[in-house]
Amino acid sequence: MTAPLHASPPECSSSPQSSPARGNAAPIGIFDSGLGGLSVLRAVRAQLPHEALLYVADSLHAPYGLRDNAFISERTLAIGEWLVSQGAKALVVACNTATAESIALARERLSIPIIGVEPGIKPAAGLSASRIAGVLATQVTLRSERFRSLIERYAADCRFICQPGHGLVEAVERCEIDTPELRALLARYIEPMLAAGADTLVLGCTHYPFLDAAIRDIAGPSLTLVDTSVAIARQLERVLEANGLGAPVGRQPPPPRLCSTDGGVHLHRLASTLLGLDVWVERVEIAARGVAADGSHAV
Ligand code: DGL
Repeated sequence: MTAPLHASPPECSSSPQSSPARGNAAPIGIFDSGLGGLSVLRAVRAQLPHEALLYVADSLHAPYGLRDNAFISERTLAIGEWLVSQGAKALVVACNTATAESIALARERLSIPIIGVEPGIKPAAGLSASRIAGVLATQVTLRSERFRSLIERYAADCRFICQPGHGLVEAVERCEIDTPELRALLARYIEPMLAAGADTLVLGCTHYPFLDAAIRDIAGPSLTLVDTSVAIARQLERVLEANGLGAPVGRQPPPPRLCSTDGGVHLHRLASTLLGLDVWVERVEIAARGVAADGSHAV
C-alpha cells in the first residue's frame, strides 16, 4: 500500500515514445535501512543520468546495525521482492550492513542482478601513506565474515583501527548532521585514530558521507575520506551493460521515485536539502515475508 506524503505530486514525465525503442526503461531499485543510501543514489544519478531510480528507505526499522542477522536478511529479501514487484531491473543494496549479512541470500532468491556495497578497505590500503587507516562502520558490518575477509585480502600490510559508529546512523535519520552533540560524538571516534597516526578514514556505512563536512572540520584536510559510492555507481553501470539492461540512450527519465517505510519527513528533507531533489515521498508498507504489515505472523 502506498500513500503520498510530501511535496507536490510528480509532474508527468515527457513521453518516451519519441525515443528509440532500444534499451530497458525499467527502474533500478536502491534500498537502505534508511536515508544513507541517498549517498549512493546521488552517485548513481551522476553516473547514469538516463536511468529511472526507485529508492526505498526502511527507516521504520533503522538502524539495522543493532539488529540480528535473521532480521536483516528478512528485511533485505522482503524489500528486494517488493522492488522486483515494482518492476526493478536491478537492485543496489546501498547498505553495508545488509550487504554483509544478506547479499548472498538475496542473490540466491532474487532473479535480477544485485550490486552490494562494502567498506573501501582496498582503496584505503592503496591510499594510506602512513599504513594506518581508520574504519567507521556499524558493529554488524565490522563483525561480519565479509569484513574480516576484506581485511585479509587487501590490507595485510596496513593497520586498520575499526570503530563502530554507535549513534551516527540515528543522527542522520533525524537529519542532525551538524549539531554540537554529533560533532562531539564524531570527535570521540576520530581523534584516537588521528592520534594513532591514521591518514585515511573509510566511511563504511552509507549514512556517513552526509557527515563529511563535520568530519573534515574535526580532522582537517590531511585525513583522506574513502567513500565507495562512485565506485558502486560504476560497478552498476558495468553490470547493466553486461546484462543488456541499460536505459534507452538519450532518454529523459522521470524524477527518482522515493519511498519510505516510515512517515518519510526526513527522507524528503535530506533529499531536498542535500541532493536538490524536491520530489513526492510515498509511504510504503513492506511486511516481512510471512509476517503481516501489523506485525502478526501469517499462518
Ligand atoms: N546505511 C547503512 C550501512 O551502510 C546503515 C546501517 C544501519 O542502519 O545501522 O550500513
